[in-house]
Amino acid sequence: MKISVIGAGNVGATCAKVLAEKNVANEIVMLDVKEGVAEGKALDIWQSAPIERYDAKTIGVTNDYVATAGSEVVVITSGLPRKPGMSRDDLISTNANIVKSVTENVMKYSPNAKLVIVSNPLDVMTYQAYLSSGLPRHQVIGMAGILDTGRFKAFIADELNISPKDVHAMLMGGHGDTMVPLVRYTTINGIPITEMIPEDKLNAIIERTKFGGGELVKLMGTSAWYAPGAAAARMAEAIARNHRRIYPVCVKLDGEYGQKDVFLGAPVVLGKNGIEKIIELKLNDAEMDLVNKSADHVREVMSVLDKMK
Ligand code: LAC
Repeated sequence: MKISVIGAGNVGATCAKVLAEKNVANEIVMLDVKEGVAEGKALDIWQSAPIERYDAKTIGVTNDYVATAGSEVVVITSGLPRKPGMSRDDLISTNANIVKSVTENVMKYSPNAKLVIVSNPLDVMTYQAYLSSGLPRHQVIGMAGILDTGRFKAFIADELNISPKDVHAMLMGGHGDTMVPLVRYTTINGIPITEMIPEDKLNAIIERTKFGGGELVKLMGTSAWYAPGAAAARMAEAIARNHRRIYPVCVKLDGEYGQKDVFLGAPVVLGKNGIEKIIELKLNDAEMDLVNKSADHVREVMSVLDKMK
């Protein structure tokens, strides 16, 4: 089993490292446009195999898509990251061209791969990959919900001083300021979160989650990579190992939630075919309203992409 990670920057390299440590595939190919970068990082990761005790082989190449041939899953992280003061949407024109060309190259050698998209603006880059790949929607999946719920859960764990393992949460909408953390679907091992955290504190956590990526850009001068890389690896693993786990991911909606032709975060079952099923939560009016607003925002950015063509 082969998994390829396109883009060996911080997110791509972190994703490859997590996949290797978990032995998710026996071969993990890293590809980058910058001469030597993927080769160097793949070699560095391979040299940690005897130390960390795993045997997944990491291979790095410079723009040589032949090496990715026959990949079961391809994670696309290519593109520029945010700088302080930028929104994810500011990256659209640069990253759309990159994601288009990467996807076309990937498809030449892995025509039936499941694609996990990580490039920003996430929902619209997933749309771009869908257009450029010609794959059915269940094979083109955007990474955001696992990252965003990861942030939400981490803040909740801090607030309650408990293990993050016991925090369960669901979230919908776009990967941006309009994301919708779903309080009604958030529990501490089944205990409704509203019994554990007062409303004002919970609202503050929701706001911090929505701007969680920006908080890190401000601190580091570039966007995050540990949690984004781990989240992408988690999706690739669920597909490669047919876990059939339920995760929030970015998916093309075709009538679900009353939405059509929009790429939006929603809960799905992830398994060997990619998205095995989209789960339709019974949202109340207030929740549905927020999801609709988020969909409207994503649609606006999608139309920017449409006009670029
Ligand atoms: C973030 C970037 C990866 O949310 O979108 O950190």
